[in-house]
This record gives sequence, structure tokens and C-alpha cells, in this order.
Amino acid sequence: MPESAAPFATRAGLEAAWARRAALHEDPDLDVYRLFHGHGDGAPGCTLDRLGEGWVATGPEAWLAELPALLREMGQAPAWLIGRARPGPGTPRLLLGSQPPERVTVTEHGLQFDIEPMASRNVGLYLDTRQARQWIREHSAGRLILNLFAYTGSLGVAAAAGGARGVTHMDMQKRALRRVRTNLELNELRVDARDLIAGDLYVHLRRMAKGSRRFDGIILDPPPQVPGRGAHRPSGQDYETLLPATLPLLSPGGWLLCFFSRRNQSQATCEAAIQDAASVPLEVIHRGTSGDDFPEADANAKLSFSAFAHRA
Ligand SMILES: C[S@@+](CC[C@H](N)C(=O)[O-])C[C@H]1O[C@@H](n2cnc3c(N)ncnc32)[C@H](O)[C@@H]1O
Repeated sequence: MPESAAPFATRAGLEAAWARRAALHEDPDLDVYRLFHGHGDGAPGCTLDRLGEGWVATGPEAWLAELPALLREMGQAPAWLIGRARPGPGTPRLLLGSQPPERVTVTEHGLQFDIEPMASRNVGLYLDTRQARQWIREHSAGRLILNLFAYTGSLGVAAAAGGARGVTHMDMQKRALRRVRTNLELNELRVDARDLIAGDLYVHLRRMAKGSRRFDGIILDPPPQVPGRGAHRPSGQDYETLLPATLPLLSPGGWLLCFFSRRNQSQATCEAAIQDAASVPLEVIHRGTSGDDFPEADANAKLSFSAFAHRA
């Protein structure tokens, strides 16, 4: 069914989704998660995210127009509700409540993150990687961590909060790296400008491999299609090129955390491809997925991540 012809999220659908997330609503340490996830909650193309006191909805224009009344009927009153029409330009607009501040701070299991509610694309935090942040936080004590494709640095913030000896963030967007700094500061974590590396990581990784610095944990979260790199490759995440560039920087005994966003392949298949392409023995030590707030009828459609230990 084309997305535009998909059913809208109705009041019944929204209520069922709300009930399914009871444990998240009751968690006093969490105010940022997905309230409605299109595919798994029965209305592909419609999403609703809680971002602190306010919510952000994406979906067809006609649904956004109905949503304020639906929420009022349900007795829900977020401080603000921003809508972004999809398909369409996705220009954010206020649907309900009062205009949000340009930036707000949200809390995920005690960590604070800076959010831009009116951003036209991503507000600055990927909500589907919450469980990865938890794993990283639990496995970073005393380690030197490299966070590749860092964006606003939430995964590296989790490493630093978990007691990492140091965390280096790499991303091509200078603006994203400024937000890494903000996120570290929000959590009263040390910021060293030398650990915020801007530029094409394909170039930086090659340069780093010539030096002596090695890492005890590497986070590798390439976008579904690495810009300008993957078009001619079977895997848009470009692990084929990234692995040989990354593994020389991983110390024996260290871990490599890889994210998989391929909807048509199992996690086991993605892991096997990584192990086959690796020049060192990699053992799977952890498997994770997005949280229960991202339900999918097809398990392969869920974002997944696997941690590998370098066993050489
Ligand atoms: C999907 S986001 C990563 C999300 C991030 N790991 C997080 O958890 O918030 C992809 C990021 O990759 C960066 N990126 C894409 N190609 C890059 C390249 N060749 N070198 C450095 N960064 C790149 C983009 O700027 C973007 O911030």
C-alpha cells in the first residue's frame, strides 16, 4: 500500500499505543521516547515522539490536521505539539499548545540531551538507539572510545557517563560537533576540543591508522546510505570500506559496536558479513535492537546493533 493511502493513526490506535508504553510513561527517569510508531502501531507513516513536555508528530497532512482534536478527546495536553507533514517538505509547525523554546533539554535514564523541537529533519537525538546507549554506558568504564558518525554525540556521551577514559567523536558536520560539546556540558562531562574531529572520516581514519593511538571501544553507526560512498555498493552503510579502515584502530580485547539499518536482512546475516570482511577474529558478545516503543511486525525491520569483541 503506498504510504499516502495508509490508514491514519485513529484515537483507538493512539490509545492502544499509549497503553503499550505504560512502563515508559511510568519511568521517572525518562521523558523522551516514541509514543506511536507507524508500522508496528498500525498506521505506517504516522509517528509521534515525546520530547520532554512537548510532542512531535510526523505523518500525512490530513492526519496532522485531525491530531489536536484526537488528543483533546483523549485528555492529552502536551505543552506543545509540533507537526511535520510527510510526504511533503516536512516544515515544522505548531499544532497545539504554546510555541516551544528553540532548544529544550530531555532526560533519558539520567542523561540530558539538547533537542531542537522545530528542526526540519532530526531534532538532535535518535530515540531508537536508547538501548545501545545503555549498553555503551555499561561497557565503557576505563576504556578509550572512538565514536564514528557521531552526529550530536549521544552514544559518546553514554560512553563518557559510563566512565570512559576518553571519547573521540568524529563527524563531517561542524554544527553537530558543537552540539556534542553542548551534550557533554549538560551532563557535566569533560570536553576536550581535540576529541571533536570534524571532516570526512574516511580521510581521518586513514591518517589515524598511521599513528599509535588505539581504542578499546569503537562505535560505528553509518547512515543507511553513506553520502557519496555507497551508491555503487550493495550495502549503503558501506561496511565493506569502513571495516578495513576502522579495525586497525581497535586494540585486541576491545569491542566494536555496529548498527544495522537494512530492513531486508536478519541481524545474524549482517553479523556474518562483518565477521567475513574483518581482518581479525570478531566474536559477537551482545545483540540489541530498538526499544519496545519501536514495534515492528517484521523483526528484521527493527534497527539492530551488535557488539563484537576483538579476540586476537
Ligand atoms: C545517522 S547519523 C549518526 C547518528 C549518531 N551515531 C547518533 O547516535 O546520534 C549519521 C551521521 O554521519 C555523518 N556522516 C556521514 N558521512 C560522513 C563522513 N564521510 N564522514 C564523517 N561523518 C559523516 C553525518 O554528518 C551524520 O551526522
